[in-house]
This record gives sequence, structure tokens and C-alpha cells, in this order.
Amino acid sequence: MEEKPMSKRTIIVVGSANTDMILKMDRLPKPGETVLGGAFAMAAGGKGANQAVGAARAGGRVVFVARVGQDDFGARAIEGLARDRIVVDFVFRDKTRPTGVALIFVARNGENSIAVASGANAALSAKDVRKAAPAFDGAGFLLTQLETPLETVQAAAELAAQKKVRVILNPAPARPLPGALLAKVNILTPNETETEILTGIRVSGERSAKTAAAALKRMGVETVIITLGPRGAFVSGPGFEGIVPGLKVRAVDTTAAGDVFNGALAVGLSEGRALKEAVRFANGAAALSVTRLGAQPSAPKRKEIIGVLTGQATIAGKR
Ligand code: RIB
Repeated sequence: MEEKPMSKRTIIVVGSANTDMILKMDRLPKPGETVLGGAFAMAAGGKGANQAVGAARAGGRVVFVARVGQDDFGARAIEGLARDRIVVDFVFRDKTRPTGVALIFVARNGENSIAVASGANAALSAKDVRKAAPAFDGAGFLLTQLETPLETVQAAAELAAQKKVRVILNPAPARPLPGALLAKVNILTPNETETEILTGIRVSGERSAKTAAAALKRMGVETVIITLGPRGAFVSGPGFEGIVPGLKVRAVDTTAAGDVFNGALAVGLSEGRALKEAVRFANGAAALSVTRLGAQPSAPKRKEIIGVLTGQATIAGKR
């Protein structure tokens, strides 16, 4: 992969910020079961904030629009984002709601299960997005997900469309989406589960991925990228359709792999890489992230991504 100049066009991320409480266990508990022996860690998370950090470390210039509480978690979240040089002028402090918290179990094989108390994320409003309107001028991409109210996501997509900013929607956590929103989305990036919720089609290989992508395109989306975990991603867009293979690594924690993928994808595209190349860049970032514990602590730096993709560096835990 040829090194490109660092992106100068802004990526706006509208979305959630959480504090993650992580328990690393041998296996995930079943309903009604208590599992002993876990190690505890706390880390910055939230799909929106993870995407912002993923993009910033991959070389993007990022503005983050979000809402946190007036608590210590909120202060720490903002400090962490600013350390990654993310513009935090539109990260609002909610007067009554606490910062979002996620409880995350991580099993030995890297699988996870997550429950979120949304807190201030649930109050991120269309008005908040409109306050950030000046940041949309001249921006390259809006990157957003579904951990904040749907009307806020819709307002962000409308503003982006007005300002000729391309929209990447990562439909996570999955829920059925209105046609009016999908019509504003340039690139949709569901995983296999989210694809099934949106289309009713179970993705089990390239053929079913192609059928599901076609169904999503019929709903109004221009380009579909279905992430397939270690197998990479199925891409259906202008000029390319097919699988872009992922890197095989031993997973320690898959939390935020999708978020890191989306952040790096936005960077790759905003610096003018072809779709397939941008997905390869994003696959490299996601592979690095699953070899590390925690959401934001796992997001790799641009140098590391380029290093593994050019063969100048190896990933710890590569298979
Ligand atoms: O995608 C991973 C994220 O989902 C975690 O960081 C957690 O906060 C939840 O939002």
C-alpha cells in the first residue's frame, strides 16, 4: 500500500461517548449464571467516540459532535479525545444526565457481549447537530451510527446532504431504518447481524452478501460494505464488487473493531483512495484493534496500519 499524504478534509463524527467497564472472563455468562475469575478494566468507549479516535489515529482531521454528563467520566472522555487532537468544541455537557456507560464482558476467544446505559447520549439532539453546522462547511465525510436518537442521525444526514458532505452510516446497534434516512446515506457499513436485521437476508458467504447488498441498494444506499469479521468485508459500490480479505490475527478483544474499521475507512476515502484500497486500509486497522483489549485503547496509529499492510511490521498474534 502506497503511503498517501495525510488527509486534510475534515471528518465529522456524530455519535455516542461512553465509559466502558470491561470484564475479561474465560467465557461469557449465560442468562442467570454467575461466572467468577474475571479481570476488570475501565476504558473510553462509545461507538461514536471510538470511530472518532479510530479516524484521528489513522490520520484524519476529526470534529466530534456528542453529549456527555457533567461528571468525571464526561471530563475524562473529553480529555482523551482532545489528546487525540479531535476537535471537541461540539461535545456538549448535559446538565441532568450522566455520561453513558457500557458494561462489557469479553471472553477468552475475543467475543463480547455489551449492555449500554445511554445517559447523555440519549439527549444528543438535532439542535446540537445544527450548532455544529459551521464544521460541516468543506468537510469530506459525516460518519455516524445508531447509539444516539434516530432523529439526531437523520438531522446530521440532512445537514451533510445540504452541505455536499458524503454520509457513512454504520447501522449499529441495528434497528430498522426509515427510507428517508437511507436515501441520504452514501455508504452503509453493516456487519452480518445488522445486515440480516435490515434486509431479512442471512449472510453466510459471498453470494448471500451480494444479494443483501443489492437489497440495501434498492432501499436507496449508494455503496454497501458488509463487514465479515476476520474474513474482511464484502463491498458493493461504483467500480468494485467483491470481498476485500481481512488479515488473520488471534483475537484478544473484538470490541470496537467495527468502529475502528469505520474510522479508518472514512480516512482512506477522505484522502482519495479508491473504495477497495480504503477498505483494505480499514481492514488493517480493524485487525490491529482486535489484538488489543479495550475500545479506544485498541485503535491503531496510522504508522502501524501502513506498517502491517506494507509488510514492514507484523501484528502481534498474527496467524
Ligand atoms: O462498539 C463498541 C462500543 O459499543 C463500546 O465501546 C461500548 O461503549 C458500546 O457503545
